Amino acid sequence: MKSLAPALLGIAVIAGLSIPIPTQAQAAGEEGLRFAADNYQLQTIEANGERIRVRAYEGIRYVANPVDASRQVMNIYIPAAYFEGGEVAGKTAERAPIFLPNQIGGYMPAAPGTANAPARGPGAGRVSTIAQALMRGYVVASPGARGRSEENGKAPAAIVDLKAAVRWLRYNDARMPGDAERIISNGTSAGGALSALLGASGNHPDYEAALQQLGAAPAGDDVFAVSAYCPITNLEHADAAYEWLFNGVNDYKKISIQMLDYNVQRQETAGTLDAAQIGLSDALKPLFPPYLNSLGLKDAGGQPLQLADDGRGSFAEHIARLVTQSAQTALDAGQDLSGTDWLDIADGKVAQVDLAAYARGIGRMKTPPAFDAVDLSSGENQLFGGDGQDSRHFTDFSMRHSTAEGGQRAPAEQVRLMNPLNYIGDAAARNAQHWRIRHGSHDRDTAVAVPAILAARLAQQGHAVDFALPWGQGHGGDYDLDALFDWMDKISTAEN
Ligand code: DHB
Repeated sequence: MKSLAPALLGIAVIAGLSIPIPTQAQAAGEEGLRFAADNYQLQTIEANGERIRVRAYEGIRYVANPVDASRQVMNIYIPAAYFEGGEVAGKTAERAPIFLPNQIGGYMPAAPGTANAPARGPGAGRVSTIAQALMRGYVVASPGARGRSEENGKAPAAIVDLKAAVRWLRYNDARMPGDAERIISNGTSAGGALSALLGASGNHPDYEAALQQLGAAPAGDDVFAVSAYCPITNLEHADAAYEWLFNGVNDYKKISIQMLDYNVQRQETAGTLDAAQIGLSDALKPLFPPYLNSLGLKDAGGQPLQLADDGRGSFAEHIARLVTQSAQTALDAGQDLSGTDWLDIADGKVAQVDLAAYARGIGRMKTPPAFDAVDLSSGENQLFGGDGQDSRHFTDFSMRHSTAEGGQRAPAEQVRLMNPLNYIGDAAARNAQHWRIRHGSHDRDTAVAVPAILAARLAQQGHAVDFALPWGQGHGGDYDLDALFDWMDKISTAEN
């Protein structure tokens, strides 16, 4: 339970050594960031017919100078046994990893999660992820974070908040049960994207000034592992990726911006692309191969993943293999796939999927450009607001094609701070070593190319990546918690 102290605060240079010294104000702020072991409520959590007594530390402020006191708080749940020398599911106070599920959806502001499932809404009746993690002996810390609908929640606010929460946990490592060297981040969709970004950008100086300003605790913000469900990430390249996959599929089923959040019950409106939208799709699709090729990706066997100008090539075959594997896994598990007319199955074998048929089969959800809307109407436009603008463009393409009067472009730096690909393999960042990425085979919120690029890039940097497309799964997360916790147990007890 060591704590890394990165360069912080003031620096004193004594006999050639640089020693960080906290200023007075910072030292005073730090007092308030200490874990107060006695400040809890005892709760009995029930899940799957089991019960566990936990100490609930709710609404814990994780920065000294909050700008949004309702969001910059965290709920922490610790099995009571860990204060009594006991074990839960083979874990101890010393060694229990800290599970860090964020609740962010749609890049909206998020409250911290609670151990009890919501009584109303789409999650009602489901056993909460937090409750199940506690049963498995994890210490759980769920941070709230600022989001796009508020002026102070524009990018990169949410990632800065998650980092501050991690710093709080690392700062308090010795004072609290749970091992802050074993923080495992989890999130879905926008929350999955932020989970990935958290894992990629550990300790990177790009975020330091913003963290200092909030009075984040003096500790590192790198995490041990990342779980990301359907990450809506790599936003500035996701429009081209979407049209690379869906160009030619002109019917769509769109949801409104209020329903982006995967936590919200969705209602789809069917439509067909008009001539202008088809023109945008045709113009975006050819932007994808040059971008993909610029990454220099390779598959697990060291073969280059590339695309020709027409969008075909080894990367397309790689994606087709992933979808094929997804179907084969379902078939092997006894699922009946005969209703899926774009699959070719003979003798218990799924033939390599045709990507165009796959795209038609799962269907288009978003109209082009899928993320940087030309009329500034997307959630992501609002994410990249700032300088008095609620929404801005974040790609050259949509800036050029903007139909919004006085539409502006977000600074490149703001966009850069939200993309984990910018930090994977960057020597100034400490990347998480272990990654579990899931994207449902039927998810159309972003093109499967997006998580596949993330997974390939991580693997190429030598990180352990478990990436799969659960068959038949749409946009969502936390649907395979037993498998997630098995993976977490495995990586956190391995000898490395
Ligand atoms: C989410 C979904 C989207 O389609 C999107 O563009 C951004 C976020 C979400 O569910 O969090």
